[in-house]
Amino acid sequence: MTKVFPDGFLWGGAIAANQAEGAYNEDGRGLVQTDVTTGGTVDSPRYTTFIDKDGKPGKVGGMGHTAKIPEGAKFAVLDDYYYPNHKAVDFYHRYKEDIKLFAEMGYSVFRLSISWARIFPNGYDEKPNQAGLDFYRSVFEECRKYNIEPLVSIWHFDTPLTLEQELGCWANRKLVDYYVRYCQVIFEEYKDLVKYWLTFNEINNTIMFLDMFGEVPQEAYQEAYQTLHHQFLASAKAIKIGRQINPNFQFGNMICGITFYPGTCDPADVLLNEHKWQQNIFYCSDVQAKGRYGSYAKRLWDEHGVVLDIEDGDLEALREGTIDIYTFSYYMTNNVTTHDSDDLVAGNFSAGVRNPYLTYSDWGWALDPTGLQYFLEKIYDRYELPMMVVENGLGAFDTVEEDGSIHDDYRIDYHRQHIKAMAQAIANGVDLIAYTTWGCIDIVSAGTGEMRKRYGFIYVDMDDQGQGTLERRPKDSFYWYQKVLASNEQSALEE
Ligand code: BG6
Repeated sequence: MTKVFPDGFLWGGAIAANQAEGAYNEDGRGLVQTDVTTGGTVDSPRYTTFIDKDGKPGKVGGMGHTAKIPEGAKFAVLDDYYYPNHKAVDFYHRYKEDIKLFAEMGYSVFRLSISWARIFPNGYDEKPNQAGLDFYRSVFEECRKYNIEPLVSIWHFDTPLTLEQELGCWANRKLVDYYVRYCQVIFEEYKDLVKYWLTFNEINNTIMFLDMFGEVPQEAYQEAYQTLHHQFLASAKAIKIGRQINPNFQFGNMICGITFYPGTCDPADVLLNEHKWQQNIFYCSDVQAKGRYGSYAKRLWDEHGVVLDIEDGDLEALREGTIDIYTFSYYMTNNVTTHDSDDLVAGNFSAGVRNPYLTYSDWGWALDPTGLQYFLEKIYDRYELPMMVVENGLGAFDTVEEDGSIHDDYRIDYHRQHIKAMAQAIANGVDLIAYTTWGCIDIVSAGTGEMRKRYGFIYVDMDDQGQGTLERRPKDSFYWYQKVLASNEQSALEE
């Protein structure tokens, strides 16, 4: 029987701290954005809550940098709202049970993120929080017990809220130093337990996201590009320091991997599509993989009247901190066109026109395994770096049968198709070394805050109002993935 994937291929799953851990105010952890963000749905936004300068509670639609609270207001947890990330799925207390289940599935890698606010509650504290350091040490040791390689995201959308409140977040250059210091502490602390590090989750969202809103004020572009410059610097400086601490560390970027297609064969659409790749994918990848801004960067800045503040030594720092591995999430493709269309679709941090050749998930995301193969081949050809697919999954409704079983054949089918697409890319020359499915256990959705948008191979008994026992239960996909990992053969994929 032919092996589908090379020996040593890393198979596993992925979660993020703020979507899984819960325990939002335990053991000295500081607040992050999602702690002041309510739940939403596919049709209604999540809200960020605050107390205004006159002491009145309020909320504003959106989260992260889209949620602009009024001048003088302070982010706040309010009594009248339910915040799904506060409890999440309680990974903080149940990680031993969860990692044991991952080991039963046959994982050789587990991607998770460290919450910066567990280590430095305000982001800039003098000393790290020992309880936070101890927690992740214990998690990594638990992984090692089962020979599972931890793959660690250093930042997964969760800047400590104090830095947002007091410094206005990443548009402020001071965050570069705070982040680098945080990295230095965790690199020293876990240098013998962790080898693979990802500096910023889906770093390109900051710019890609703006496309979803049609006309966007110039200041939003200015802030987004300056934010990215600071995150590029922070990433590069951290990588340089990390290599001094342990030369065996392997660093990855992390790109929200949307494959863009021209909506028609009109040459104007083909050109627009190329420009979307430059803005949304290559802009970040080129800096992190090649160590310099692409030739088209000046066009992008000029188009939006952006004047980037680049200090002496910055460009050199970018050159000195390039990545070893190209990692990305993949959920969907997007069609771009210069023509008017009423048939618009939105998905993961991006939007476009409907593709008549594809079907869409219950949350409107295009289902397209071929797009994954396309992304892998196109990116490998450009950078020739080893690659990892570090997120891929189907957010879907699951039904628990009377006997407790969960028949998620739609999810099995989704992963089967995407794994086949990866196998094809490998056959075509791509050096793909890992696959971690997203939300390997059900977690809170980042976009909508829902629990019912489930990705896991392990069901968690928890609903959108915070009701449930948190009991874990393997779905059919759990046993299917277990078989694929055990044999790594084409025949297992077909079952
Ligand atoms: C990615 C994020 O954008 O998509 C994850 O890195 C997120 O944090 C995942 O959960 C799926 O998105 P959602 O909105 O369905 O949770």
